[in-house]
Amino acid sequence: MTMRNKYRKPTTFHCNAGSRCSPSAVVWSLVGFLLFLHLYSLVSHNGGKGGDVQLHTSHHTLFRELEEVEEETIQIPPPKGKRSPRAAKRRPKRSTTLIDEFLDENSQLRHVFFPDMKTAIDPMNDSGNDSLNYFPGRIWFDTEGNPIQAHGGGILYDESSRTYYWYGEYKDGPTYHAHKKGAARVDIIGVGCYSSKDLWAWKNEGIVLEAEEANETCDLHKSNVLERPKVIYNEKTGKYVMWMHIDDGNYTKAAVGIAISDYPTGPFSYLHSKRPHGFDSRDMTIFKDDDGVAYIIYSSEDNSELHIGPLTEDYLDVTHVVRRILIGQHREAPALFKYQGTYYMITSGCTGWAPNEALAHAAESIMGPWETMGNPCIGGNKMFRQTTFFAQGTYVFPLSGLPGSFIFIADRWNPADLRDSRYVWLPLIVGGPADRPLDYDFGFPVWSRVSIYWHRKWRLPSGWRGLK
Ligand SMILES: *[C@@H]1O[C@H](CO)[C@@H](O)[C@H](O)[C@H]1NC(C)=O
Ligand SMILES: *[C@@H]1O[C@H](CO)[C@@H](O)[C@H](O)[C@H]1NC(C)=O
Ligand SMILES: *[C@@H]1O[C@H](CO)[C@@H](O)[C@H](O)[C@H]1NC(C)=O
Ligand SMILES: *[C@@H]1O[C@H](CO)[C@@H](O)[C@H](O)[C@H]1NC(C)=O
Repeated sequence: MTMRNKYRKPTTFHCNAGSRCSPSAVVWSLVGFLLFLHLYSLVSHNGGKGGDVQLHTSHHTLFRELEEVEEETIQIPPPKGKRSPRAAKRRPKRSTTLIDEFLDENSQLRHVFFPDMKTAIDPMNDSGNDSLNYFPGRIWFDTEGNPIQAHGGGILYDESSRTYYWYGEYKDGPTYHAHKKGAARVDIIGVGCYSSKDLWAWKNEGIVLEAEEANETCDLHKSNVLERPKVIYNEKTGKYVMWMHIDDGNYTKAAVGIAISDYPTGPFSYLHSKRPHGFDSRDMTIFKDDDGVAYIIYSSEDNSELHIGPLTEDYLDVTHVVRRILIGQHREAPALFKYQGTYYMITSGCTGWAPNEALAHAAESIMGPWETMGNPCIGGNKMFRQTTFFAQGTYVFPLSGLPGSFIFIADRWNPADLRDSRYVWLPLIVGGPADRPLDYDFGFPVWSRVSIYWHRKWRLPSGWRGLK
């Protein structure tokens, strides 16, 4: 069922500046006042940048339909009888919750979270009307009919080939536990790469950074951990640079790895790993700013805080500059993006493979201070919103030509069979005042709200210029 967002006021104000917005004087004057404050803050954020402030009220009508929310009504099956002993053991006294069902590989609701092969998205089979549609959580075939293996990934738009590249963990191997208390894992196979012209039909470009089979002292030895690979292009050196989380099987190494290639499709040469700025580093991402400066953001101090700092000009190392942000907030899986001069970030909590609540953060300067705005998820149902739609973010990709519109890319991890983890792609829109008053703004929201809208099925606007 699709209905208009009923959780809060519309996130955009569909009226031209100052004209014909007559009714409900009180509400509108309040809204106008908030909008004024918000615009004022936008203008002051953008001061000195040529004054080309684009009002978020104008953001693309093509995307408006994606701000309608879809509801999910899911009946939890009765706890007795058919309930698997595993789920019963996990929560012996309470009735089962949706999250228990999600984590229970024998749940009768399994198909809700992990729809079977029959519903797979197949870009080579256009017999239905599903072409170019995203179905979060379904199996997604590449152009050869194999499930895409690009977990914890990110997208690079390559200007020279006008092609999108999707890099991620290639996890098409058996899931096992290395020892009793070890987390579910798949041996390193490598970093998978897929190319596309439309962000929907993806061609497998192969494994662009491969695991090492024999030499156990190598970072890329299969017994180790390689997570969250991200690739950016360096204009100055003409190299494609990959950063990733490198760890041993027990997550004690806590380092980053760097690899480099002349081509987006690799092969990438692995350079080395290091602890950035001397700190432990687990979930991480890199972000390339408009001015060409790239930054690394990583969870540190045992995931209790994030660190952020610029890379060197060649993107192959960190500099000595680093800031601690979101201290004591225990966030991971950072995904950073920028809109109208403001930096935004989505993070997750730290609960292993189990899903948890996402938070959106914003900052005027990428080095901070960063402020937490709250949960960006809208639609589905309460449990969907509290679990980031049963997924964990990994990347936020801007849709050029659609200001304020992004794709939120997340992983629905399947700890019982990690290779069968699913992708959750959803529209992310920046616009409208934030829900929650923040610390030092006298109770008025300063940042635009970040909203991720749940959809069972959606597609990019057909007029979007990236689709050609
Ligand atoms: C294409 O999809 C239709 C319906 O989704 C299915 O019946 C058919 O078998 C598929 N064809 C191929 C070649 O996979
Ligand atoms: C595809 O869409 C057309 C027009 O909207 C409709 O008539 C047709 O039944 C649809 N086909 C399928 C397989 O859903
Ligand atoms: C194994 O890898 C290490 C680290 O990369 C390297 O120093 C060493 O020479 C390699 N050993 C062999 C036998 O290739
Ligand atoms: C990981 O920890 C387990 C149990 O503490 C230990 O047996 C194993 O040797 C450790 N493995 C590595 C690679 O450090």
